Formats: sequence, structure tokens, C-alpha cells
Amino acid sequence: MMLQVVQPPLAMVAMLATLWLLSLSLPTSWAQMLVSCAYKSLCQQAVISGNDVVLQCDHLKARWYFSSILGEDLLLLSSVPNIKKLPGGSLQLTNPQPSQAGLYHCEDNDNALVVEYEIDFQDVTTLHITHKGLGQEPLQNETLSLGGKELIFTHWEPWQDCNSCGEPGERKRLGYCYIEEPLETPMPCWLYLQEEKVQYRRMWPEMQLGKLTNNMWLTCPLASR
Ligand SMILES: *[C@@H]1O[C@H](CO)[C@@H](O)[C@H](O)[C@H]1NC(C)=O
Repeated sequence: MMLQVVQPPLAMVAMLATLWLLSLSLPTSWAQMLVSCAYKSLCQQAVISGNDVVLQCDHLKARWYFSSILGEDLLLLSSVPNIKKLPGGSLQLTNPQPSQAGLYHCEDNDNALVVEYEIDFQDVTTLHITHKGLGQEPLQNETLSLGGKELIFTHWEPWQDCNSCGEPGERKRLGYCYIEEPLETPMPCWLYLQEEKVQYRRMWPEMQLGKLTNNMWLTCPLASR
């Protein structure tokens, strides 16, 4: 009998590629993220949806209120299935969704503000992935036509440690969609646009993959090869 070389069907190759990309964006790689902010302050933060976050509020009798970016009144947060108040007062969100973007307000038992967060959960399913090594370019800056000179751009995090990338010899960084008005502090896209129902094609979080250069290898003791 003759041996036959079986080519994997194309669909299978595509599926494996997708699985590989998913494994890069799963929570395991950047675990649970702690978001903190100074006492009595408001902090804004963009994060990728689907990745667990803890919003810090160090008050044993903390009460948490929430208002979505659509601008409803603040409502006491209780019995939301994926939101849990931790014993120390902080709030844990498991697998948060883009619809949960909004204002998270923590107060003490005298109704005094402890800390507030405006969180933009940018949709992991629209993550725009480019690979430097394949010559793929990240998204370009664009201007919006809201009447002013708003710029929409990707605010990049630093490159992650080479040994946390899963794939030897590779590193990655995440970027969030931000909008900037001249002379203003840039804001995460959905926090900026809020109830404006406009959707811009450019409003995606990004991930960029890159090869390590030889110099970087010297600082990567755990890398094999
Ligand atoms: C895009 O805009 C940001 C924010 O103003 C800026 O930091 C960055 O350099 C710009 N990138 C390009 C390629 O112009």
C-alpha cells in the first residue's frame, strides 16, 4: 500500500491560525489587572474587554455605584452576575463587556467619595492585530468630523516582556483607541464620544506583534533558542 501525504484542509489551517491569535488575547497572558487611582480622584482607563479587572477602593464599607456611558443616573451596584465586591472594598469585574463601560463610583458609609473610575472596555472581538515582521502597519491617525479638530489615534502600552509572549522570539504590545482635542488630555474613544451614536471605522483596540532584535535577546534570560 502506498503512503499518502494528507494536506490539512484550508479551513483547518485558518482555524488553527485563529486559535493561535485567540491564545494571545486570552486573559491568561495578562491575568487580572489592578486599576488604582488616588484618594478622592477620578481616573480614566481603557482596557480590553474580556480581561478581568479589579478597581481599587480601600474601604471596608465601600459602596459602589455605576452609570453607563449613556449617562444614566448612578445606580447602586448589586447582584450584577460578573461583578463582585471584594472583602477589602475593591470591585472585581470578571469577563467585562463593552456595554459595561462607564463611571464606577466608590463611596464610604457617610456617602463621601473615596475614588471614581471611568473605564472604557474596548471590544476584544474587534482587536486589530498586525505583525511587524510581516510588514503589516498599525492603524493610521485620523481626524474626526465632529466640528473640531479631534484626532483619533492608538495609545500604545509599552512592549511586554519578551518572555510573556507565548511565542519564543516575539513580543507584543496593546494599544487603545483614544481621541484628542488640541490642547486637551486625550480620552479613551467611547468615554469621549459617550451618547453620540456615531461609529467610526477607526474605533478599534490594537495589538502589534514584533520580532525581538538580537540586542534584546541578551536581556531575555528565559528565552530558549
Ligand atoms: C498620532 O497621534 C498621536 C497623538 O497626538 C501622536 O503621539 C503620534 O505621534 C501620531 N502618530 C503619527 C504617525 O502621526
